[in-house]
Amino acid sequence: MYLRLENLSKIFTSRDGGREVRAVDGVNLAIERGDFVTLLGPSGCGKTTTLRLIAGFEFPSQGRIVLDGRDIADEPPNKRDMAMVFQSYAIFPHLSVFENIAYGLKIKKIGGAQLRKQVGQALEMTELTGLENRQPNQLSGGQQQRVALARCLVMQPKVLLFDEPLSNLDAKLRVQMRSEIRRIQQDLGITSVYVTHDQDEAMALSDKIVVMSGGRIQQVGSAVEIYRRPANRFVADFIGRANFLPVSVRGREANGWRVGLAGIELVVDGAPAANFAVGSQALLLVRPESMRLRQQGEGRLTGRVERTAYLGSLAEYDVEMAGQRVAAVRYDPGESDLYPVGAQVGVELIEENLYLIPA
Ligand SMILES: Nc1ncnc2c1ncn2[C@@H]1O[C@H](COP(=O)(O)OP(=O)(O)OP(=O)(O)O)[C@@H](O)[C@H]1O
Ligand SMILES: [Mg+2]
Repeated sequence: MYLRLENLSKIFTSRDGGREVRAVDGVNLAIERGDFVTLLGPSGCGKTTTLRLIAGFEFPSQGRIVLDGRDIADEPPNKRDMAMVFQSYAIFPHLSVFENIAYGLKIKKIGGAQLRKQVGQALEMTELTGLENRQPNQLSGGQQQRVALARCLVMQPKVLLFDEPLSNLDAKLRVQMRSEIRRIQQDLGITSVYVTHDQDEAMALSDKIVVMSGGRIQQVGSAVEIYRRPANRFVADFIGRANFLPVSVRGREANGWRVGLAGIELVVDGAPAANFAVGSQALLLVRPESMRLRQQGEGRLTGRVERTAYLGSLAEYDVEMAGQRVAAVRYDPGESDLYPVGAQVGVELIEENLYLIPA
């Protein structure tokens, strides 16, 4: 493992009341060389604090940070061979693009042809070539963020850290910049830890996503794993949209759990850590797109449309079904897929996309 967080905790004590905040609480995480890992979670869950511990801007209350076999938890930031891209860009307003990017190299006493070569490469990678003599106030937000990235890349760090680097950009630029970050990261094979609360960004960028809540890791997995096989209700709810239908566990089959729902039986995949007892209650995770509305009389379940919204590429529904209100989405709907409010409908669940989690 290239970068390892071992039982890492950070406790802040506020000066006024002396109340303790466990911003990071017993985090264990193993990151492989070249991985792009994203810390994802709601505001206040400890993402930034974890990143700042890795960078050395904070020191842990407990635990170890091991980089390439060496415990670095007590080392200052400039000894860690890491570079961080901030949300606020943090570029020097009085220096040109070239000077901003060259700044760190000069501190390291790198100059002359070597400096020009490395800055040139960083400019090229971030597609800033030609803008090197501009001042930051002559750049767009996206270009400023590229300067911030180039300034990190030029140092050839072992680990690149990002704290919500795209959240000041408009939606379109954000999508463009995130694919550029991914391209550069893959070209260089540079180990990266990225913080965001935007799940689309996390899913589009990452090899591995770390879902956090209350200073703790809830799940580590690929985008597919955390979306399709969430470890618990928190993860299921935080990633995408989720309906949770109470079901009774009827038995274990070779291909999953047999559960009862509103008079029918389904066989569904389930969380491996949970050993569902036969006869117990559990929650069936049903994503809105796994619910297909049909003409009345078709489908194994029935419901009543309570709300609809036609958005062109998709149609949204709220449906009263099995005693609760559930959300359904139909992508690329034809006119025969549109149902008005009040319509009695049949409902088919896409069984292979359902997932059982503990109640
Ligand atoms: N220097 C500090 N002193 C006291 N408490 C702090 C300090 N820094 C962070 N905290 C607290 O630690 C918790 C985690 O904060 P952190 O900034 O890591 O959250 P985050 O996940 O990055 O949130 P956001 O998405 O809002 O940026 C919060 O409750 C926060 O108030
Ligand atoms: Mg933060």
